[in-house]
Amino acid sequence: MSSIPNWQALRQDFPILNQQVHGKPLIYLDNAATSQKPRRVIDALVHYYEHDNANVHRGIHELSNRATAGFEAARTRTAKFINAPSAEEIIFTRGTTESINLVAATWGAKNLKAGDVVLLTEMEHHSNIVPWQLLAQRTGVKVAYIPVTGDDGALDLTKLDALLTPQVKLLSLVHISNSMGVLNPVAELCARARKLGITTLVDGAQSAGHLPVDVQAIGCDFFAFSGHKICGPTGIGVLWGRQEILNAMPPYQGGGEMILTVGYDKTEFKPAPHRFEAGTPDISGPIGLHAAMDYLDAIGRENIWKHDQELAHYAYEKLAALNHIRLFGPPAGSPNRAGLVSFLLKDVHAHDVVTLADQAGVALRGGHHCTQPLMHKLGVESTARASFYFYNTKAEVDAFVEVIREIQKFFGQ
Ligand code: ALA
Repeated sequence: MSSIPNWQALRQDFPILNQQVHGKPLIYLDNAATSQKPRRVIDALVHYYEHDNANVHRGIHELSNRATAGFEAARTRTAKFINAPSAEEIIFTRGTTESINLVAATWGAKNLKAGDVVLLTEMEHHSNIVPWQLLAQRTGVKVAYIPVTGDDGALDLTKLDALLTPQVKLLSLVHISNSMGVLNPVAELCARARKLGITTLVDGAQSAGHLPVDVQAIGCDFFAFSGHKICGPTGIGVLWGRQEILNAMPPYQGGGEMILTVGYDKTEFKPAPHRFEAGTPDISGPIGLHAAMDYLDAIGRENIWKHDQELAHYAYEKLAALNHIRLFGPPAGSPNRAGLVSFLLKDVHAHDVVTLADQAGVALRGGHHCTQPLMHKLGVESTARASFYFYNTKAEVDAFVEVIREIQKFFGQ
């Protein structure tokens, strides 16, 4: 394990953190929506555009060779980041959402038929619900859900045996819930699915940058994540899939780069990953992502996980000590609580909490967090959410909870 980092010193790597918002020092607690970017990532993007910018793969001039080398080196680095067996299994997409849509549109369209079941969980982000509903409308596939027990965000695994019917062909679930902050037992669930011949997809949007990820240890067939939540640029994401599965999938979009030969009547496609990357890709995105992965792994994701959890437990305990508050996700001390806390103040809309916190310099998020069905199941429209990353401190949590207390007082509580 990397030695314990100097978290306070790491803050200096993030120029954006050193500012005031509404006259107060910025306390950025919206990391589940997007993370901030360290100087190293910003510099990598600037360097690429100042020195190496050219289109990839097609050119044979120096700049094109450099851009291609940087682009493909990022693919190799990404494979290492999630311990994928091969860089050929790494597809660059726009983000987690596009990665899941790609699987639904290609693997799903080819392998699923009317009556087959896609099994999700009730805590999925809309990006892991809507693509399957769209597929269901086109094909007659059914969508089923592993229930969530309640406010603690736990999956009700007592229902799993009954849900794992012979019709289930895909289990697609979130690694860490963006609205409940719960870490799901994905390896255990993928192992159970695998025994039954069920293909598995893990949505790693909230996990990839927060804890060590090993897709071989998880035992899934697909893993998806986004660059912007792990200190990388927006607009770049990753889909990992097992090579034999990827090469049996039809293309996603048609165009340049993904073909071997094209005739007026017929086209032969490249193998994965290029088959799934039609057109000029986002080139600076993978280059920035590469820098982000190097940066995170120099800190050590096992260190980041401990730090995030410590902040979340601390925040949960302090919030739980307030009156008139409803907290979501596993309680403080639970090993499966990830680095975010969702909550509701009695008789105060989450948007009011977020608006008033913003006036105090604290960036939170309020809303359904793209998990509207789960919110409705829990009988709420929205929650307020504080989500942490390694550059947040206990002093920031103290200031945030103090702001929440002030908001309660403002509402006469
Ligand atoms: N999915 C992101 C969030 O939870 C946008 O905020």
